[in-house]
Amino acid sequence: MTASLAAVVLCAGKGTRMKSEKAKVLHPILGKPLCAYPLMRALELGASPVVSVVGHQAEEVERSIRAHFPTAPLRFALQKEQRGTADAVRSAESALKDFNGRVLILYGDVPLVRSETLAALAAAHEKGGGVLSLVSTVPADPTGYGRVIREMGKVVRIVEHKDATPEQRQVRECNAGIYLVESSFLWKALANIRSSNAQGEFYLTDLVEMAAAQGPVASIEAEFGETAGVNDRVELAARAKELQSRINTWHMRNGVTLADPATTYIEEGVAIGSDTELGPMVTLSGATVVGRNVSIGQGCVVHASSVADGTTVKPYTVLEEARVGERCILGPFSRLRPGTDLAEEVHLGNFVETKKARLGRGSKANHLAYLGDAKIGSKVNVGAGTITCNYDGVSKHVTELGDGVFIGSDTQLVAPVKVGDGAYVGAGTTVTKDVPSGSLAVSRTPQVNLEGWVERKKARMAKSSETGSSKSDKASAG
Ligand code: UD1
Ligand code: MG
Repeated sequence: MTASLAAVVLCAGKGTRMKSEKAKVLHPILGKPLCAYPLMRALELGASPVVSVVGHQAEEVERSIRAHFPTAPLRFALQKEQRGTADAVRSAESALKDFNGRVLILYGDVPLVRSETLAALAAAHEKGGGVLSLVSTVPADPTGYGRVIREMGKVVRIVEHKDATPEQRQVRECNAGIYLVESSFLWKALANIRSSNAQGEFYLTDLVEMAAAQGPVASIEAEFGETAGVNDRVELAARAKELQSRINTWHMRNGVTLADPATTYIEEGVAIGSDTELGPMVTLSGATVVGRNVSIGQGCVVHASSVADGTTVKPYTVLEEARVGERCILGPFSRLRPGTDLAEEVHLGNFVETKKARLGRGSKANHLAYLGDAKIGSKVNVGAGTITCNYDGVSKHVTELGDGVFIGSDTQLVAPVKVGDGAYVGAGTTVTKDVPSGSLAVSRTPQVNLEGWVERKKARMAKSSETGSSKSDKASAG
C-alpha cells in the first residue's frame, strides 16, 4: 500500500517586484493564476488534502483558489508575517493535524514543475527510505540559490547563498525548493528550527541536515526551467512562453497541426482531436473541446466551447460558451456568444452574431445578422440583415423559426414571435405577429414610382439658385 500524501503550497509572498495591487500568485499565466499550476500538480499526484499557505491578500488568494478548484480537497493556513520558508510550512501544521503520511512541499510561484518530476521524487523517496527527499537543479547562474552540500556523494545539508563560504558558492547544484517529507519528522523538526542566519529567517532548508542525521536524503535533478519561479513580469512572460511551447508541442505530438506554434495560445485543459489544424494566432481557452478534422483559421478565439468533428471555422471568428455540431462552417468574422448551440452542418457567415440561439441541422445565416434568444429549426435560411429584436428595454423575448423557414433579407423579428414550419417572410418585413406555417408574411408598404420626378426636382433647384440667396451659396460651399 502506498503511503498517504498531502501537499503544502506556499502562497503567502507579496511579490514586491511585480509592482502590482494583486498578490503575485494570482497573476495569470495562460489563463490561470500562477499558483493554480503547483496546486494542479499536487492534486494530480493524489495529494489530499492540499493546503495553501496564504498571507499577503489572504482572502483574495483563498477565494481565487477555491473558485478554481471547486471540488478539490483544499485547506488553507494563514502565515501572518513572512518569517521564512520554515515558518510558512509550520503555519500549515494545524491544518494537517489529522494527517499522517508524506507531505509534498511546493512554491505557489513556480508554475512549470511537471507531474513526472514529482512522481520521480516520490519514487526516489520510496526507494531511499529516508524522512526527506528533495529536487535539485543546476542553474546557469547559481547566485542567490541554496547550495546542495554533499559528502561522499550523499546530501548532508543545504547552505543558503548568503550564508555560504566562497568554497560552498562554487557548488553548482542548487536547491529547487521542492520536498517530500514524512509528517512524523516534519512538524517535530520544524519546531527546532532557529533564525540565527544571515537573513534572520526561519529556513526550511535547515530540515535537510536534520533529516540527513536520521537517514539518507534522496534527491532527483530537474531541469532549471521547470523549477524557475516568478519574481517580476518579465519572468512571468518567460514562464508563460515556456508553458505555451510545452502545451503546443504536446498537441502536435498528439496529431494536431499548428501552422505557427509560436503564436498559438492553448490553455492547459483544452482537448483537441487528431488531424485538426490550427492557423496562426489562434486562441483556445477555458474548458474547450475541439474534435477531429476541425480547421480553425487565423486569429480565431475559442473560449469554453465545443467544436465537433469536421467543422471549419474561418479566420477571425470568436466563440464563447458555444456548442458547435459536426461539419459546420463558421466565419470569417462570426461571433458566437454564450448559449449558442448549433446542430450539424449549420453555416454562419461574416458578421453574424448569435446569443442563446439554437440552430437546427443544415440551417444557414450567411451574412450580417443578429440571432439572440432564438429557437431555429432545421434547413432554415436566414437572409442578410436579419435581426431578432429580442429586447424591449426591460426583458428578453424568444423568436421561434420552424423547420424549412425562409427569412428574406433585412427582416426584423420582433419577439416574442413564431414563424411556423415552411413559412416565408418577404425581404424588409417587420414581423410583429406570428406567421402560420406555409404562409408568406410581408409588411412592406407598396412601392410607388413617380415618373419624371428627377427632372422636375432639377428644374426646381435651378429656379431657386437663379433667385440667388446667399444662404444657399453658403450651403453649397459647405
Ligand atoms: C528558497 C530556498 C533556497 C532555494 C530557493 C529556490 C530557503 C531558506 N531557501 O530560497 O534554498 O534555492 O528557495 O527558489 O527555503 N514564502 C512564504 N512565506 C515566507 C517566505 C517565503 O510563503 O515567510 C514563499 C515565497 O512566497 C516563495 C517561496 O516561499 O513562493 C520561496 O521563498 P523565497 O523567499 O523566494 O525563497 P528563497 O529565499 O529565494
Ligand atoms: Mg527569501
